[in-house]
Amino acid sequence: MSDTRGMAADVSYAFTRDWFSQNITAWDQIFSQEKPRHILEIGSFEGRSACYTIEKLGASVADGASLTCIDNWIGGQEHRDVGGFYQAVMSDAERRFNHNTRIALAKVSNKVTLRKIKQNSRDALAQFLATAPLVQFDLIFIDGSHEAPDVLADSVLAFPLLRVGGTLIFDDYIWSDQKPQQRDPLRMPKPAIDAFVNIYQRKIEFYHRLPLWQLYLRKVAS
Ligand SMILES: C[S@@+](CC[C@H](N)C(=O)[O-])C[C@H]1O[C@@H](n2cnc3c(N)ncnc32)[C@H](O)[C@@H]1O
Repeated sequence: MSDTRGMAADVSYAFTRDWFSQNITAWDQIFSQEKPRHILEIGSFEGRSACYTIEKLGASVADGASLTCIDNWIGGQEHRDVGGFYQAVMSDAERRFNHNTRIALAKVSNKVTLRKIKQNSRDALAQFLATAPLVQFDLIFIDGSHEAPDVLADSVLAFPLLRVGGTLIFDDYIWSDQKPQQRDPLRMPKPAIDAFVNIYQRKIEFYHRLPLWQLYLRKVAS
């Protein structure tokens, strides 16, 4: 199935899921306000958010913009629990990511450098942290594993890679795949995001008037 909802009309993109289009209004606002050049995405799947980002960077930044995508292309626990159906999706997701991002890169007039890192996010982020000088991103988007321990690890490990003044976006702040009465708090991002926000509250500030499905923060101290 091919689905291009939310993207600039282009029948060549090949997506099977749309977990991103609902965020475009807020992201457009962030892009026009913050003008990020170097972006890190944790969790890329078929590249829908990555293609939006490439198109946006290509339109708004003169040559020199970059997008770094980290994904293990195995899927999170919520994908593995669904069994064969999602395993089939995940086995195709990386191929679609390659296809879709190739199209996005070809569409943009300004040069955007795409760096694809196929690795568990914790390992990839640890490698970034071990590299001197420390790489600094203008915007970091956390949308990988949705299990609370992983989200907390991604947050804490990614934070030093965000420049002061940069933007941190958590996806699926209020997501759960379980009924309210049956929720396992360790299988949701929210407890981890809340813990991170509480503990880092002197180093971040909230963007106001943006929807709560994602959480938008600015780093204000290191
Ligand atoms: C919700 S999808 C990302 C969707 C994408 N940002 C978009 O908007 O189209 C989550 C992705 O995170 C990846 N993922 C899950 N756990 C991960 C981990 N521990 N390390 C790296 N990637 C992971 C999965 O393989 C999956 O592709």
